Amino acid sequence: MSLTTLVTESWDDYGLLDSGGGRKLERYGPYRFIRPEPQAMWQPAQEDWRADGEFITASDLEGGGRWQLEKSVPASWPLSRGPVRFHAVNTPFRHLAFFPDMAPQWDWMRARTGQGDEVLNLFGYTGVGSLLLSERGARVTHVDASKKAVAAARENQNLSGMQDRPIRWLVEDALKYAQREVKRGRRYDGILFDPPKFGRGPKGERWDLNEGLPELVETLRSLLDAESKYLVLTAYAVRMSAIALQELFRQALAPLGGTVEAGEMTVREEARGLLLPTAIFARWSR
Ligand SMILES: C[S@@+](CC[C@H](N)C(=O)[O-])C[C@H]1O[C@@H](n2cnc3c(N)ncnc32)[C@H](O)[C@@H]1O
Repeated sequence: MSLTTLVTESWDDYGLLDSGGGRKLERYGPYRFIRPEPQAMWQPAQEDWRADGEFITASDLEGGGRWQLEKSVPASWPLSRGPVRFHAVNTPFRHLAFFPDMAPQWDWMRARTGQGDEVLNLFGYTGVGSLLLSERGARVTHVDASKKAVAAARENQNLSGMQDRPIRWLVEDALKYAQREVKRGRRYDGILFDPPKFGRGPKGERWDLNEGLPELVETLRSLLDAESKYLVLTAYAVRMSAIALQELFRQALAPLGGTVEAGEMTVREEARGLLLPTAIFARWSR
C-alpha cells in the first residue's frame, strides 16, 4: 500500500517563499506574511524575511495569538485561483480565509466534474472549493455551521461574478444535514469534506473528528450511488494517520467499487523546492 503526496505549486496570487525555524513566509497577492509552522524544523533558506505582517502565537496553551500588521495591509483584498476570485483576510485563526494547500484537491475534483453534476461541500468555509466546482458546471450544495463563513462565501461568489450559478449556501450542522439528505433519498456525483478537529453546529451540535468520522463517512457513502464520481476528505493538524483514513474509506466504500487513495498534502517552498506538509487526505473515485 503506497501513499500519495500532493503538492501545491506557487501561482500568481500565492507562494510559499521560505520556511524554517518553526515559521513560514508566504506571499498572498502583493503582501507577505510570516506564520508559525511547527513542521518547519529545518533552517530557512534566506535571511531576508521582510514581511507585511506576522502572526504571533500567544504564550498560553489555547493555540491563540494575534496578527501584527503593517498599516498598509487592508482589512481584505482580492485574490484569484484560476477563474475564481475571493477575499484574503488576516483571520484570528492565523490563516488568510482560505487554504492554498487545497489547490491539488480542487484541480483533481474539477477534472472529474461535469455540467450539471450535483456536488456537496461540507464544512465548506469561505467557498473557494464550491466556486471552483461550480465554475466547472456543478450544482453545488455548500454547508457550514458559521453564518459568517457562509456570508463570506456569498461575497466571494459575487466577487467572482458567479451570482447566477446554482449554489445553495446553507448554515447547517454537517452531519445532521447529511443524515437528512439520506432520509430525503438524495444522491451526489461528488462530495468533499474538510472537517475541523473540533467544531460546533449552528445549534451547538458537537463535532469531534475522531469520534464522528466513521459515522459521517458511512452517511456520505449512502449519498453516493453507481453514477457517483468522488468523495474527498481532508484533515488538518490531527493526530491521525493517512493510512487510517485510507482503511476507513476502503471499508466504508467497498460496496461502491472504485479506487481509494490517501496521503499527505504539501506546499512546495519556492526557495529550495522542499515540501512543507500541511494536511492528510483520503479520496475515493470511480
Ligand atoms: C474549513 S473547516 C476546517 C478545516 C481547516 N482546514 C482546519 O485547518 O481545521 C472549518 C469549517 O467547518 C465549520 N464547522 C465546524 N463545525 C461544523 C459543523 N458541526 N457543521 C458544519 N460546519 C462546521 C466551521 O464553521 C468552519 O468554517
